[in-house]
Amino acid sequence: MTGTRRDMSSLAQKEDPPIGPIGDPSAESVLVPVSIVKTPGNCTPEEREAFRRLLLKGGEVIPRGLASRIERAHQLSFVYMGTSLAATGAVKAPDPDYRADAFHDAATKADPKTYPVELGWVYVDDAYRGRKLSRSVVNALLPFFGTHSCYATSKVPRIWMHSTLKRFGFAQSGKPFASKLANENLLLFLREGQTDGEK
Ligand SMILES: CC(C)(COP(=O)(O)OP(=O)(O)OC[C@H]1O[C@@H](n2cnc3c(N)ncnc32)[C@H](O)[C@@H]1OP(=O)(O)O)[C@@H](O)C(=O)NCCC(=O)NCCS
Repeated sequence: MTGTRRDMSSLAQKEDPPIGPIGDPSAESVLVPVSIVKTPGNCTPEEREAFRRLLLKGGEVIPRGLASRIERAHQLSFVYMGTSLAATGAVKAPDPDYRADAFHDAATKADPKTYPVELGWVYVDDAYRGRKLSRSVVNALLPFFGTHSCYATSKVPRIWMHSTLKRFGFAQSGKPFASKLANENLLLFLREGQTDGEK
């Protein structure tokens, strides 16, 4: 029996084509995303700064006070492609008033107090978009939501992000509402606390 297995395995090795490109192992095409989640306090100053810089590059955050807001997050998600920080995300502790405004403006019936954490700062560097890295970001953060219900906001046209949010159990709630940051409308997404950690 063991001999048969060995024979079949060696046959497979002979017949299977080589996997992946042969050559420089640092080539872009052989990179796989590596996800790391850390509390801000466990990050080096360089890691927090790289996180901040990628968010600033996206241009969808208020620069003033961003470093302090990053330090106040519960968890930061880093996705690396090789040595490049390719994507970010976070479990944030939202300011209660800011959260209440979002729920009010979305005209949802949901009580903001029952959604104590926010999924936010999901950003994929433009060089790495369309490679499912938003999934890597959200998936890595799911265990940190624990049993807490959480919410996210996303711009109306960002259908790529909406797809990822729905994949991980978020559902849109209420109506589109005006962003206080930019001249765009946002959608509110809610995810109920999961006892098994993942939907
Ligand atoms: C929105 C964003 C986070 C998506 O991340 P991403 O890693 O590029 O997206 P993914 O590769 O994970 O794809 C997500 C979905 O969009 C689809 N998609 C990706 N690229 C696509 C393309 N060029 N055309 C059509 N659909 C595409 C994917 O197929 C996937 O759908 P699926 O879940 O049904 O498979 C990223 O593009 C980004 O950072 N954009 C700018 C900032 C932003 O919008 N942040 C969101 C918070 S508002």
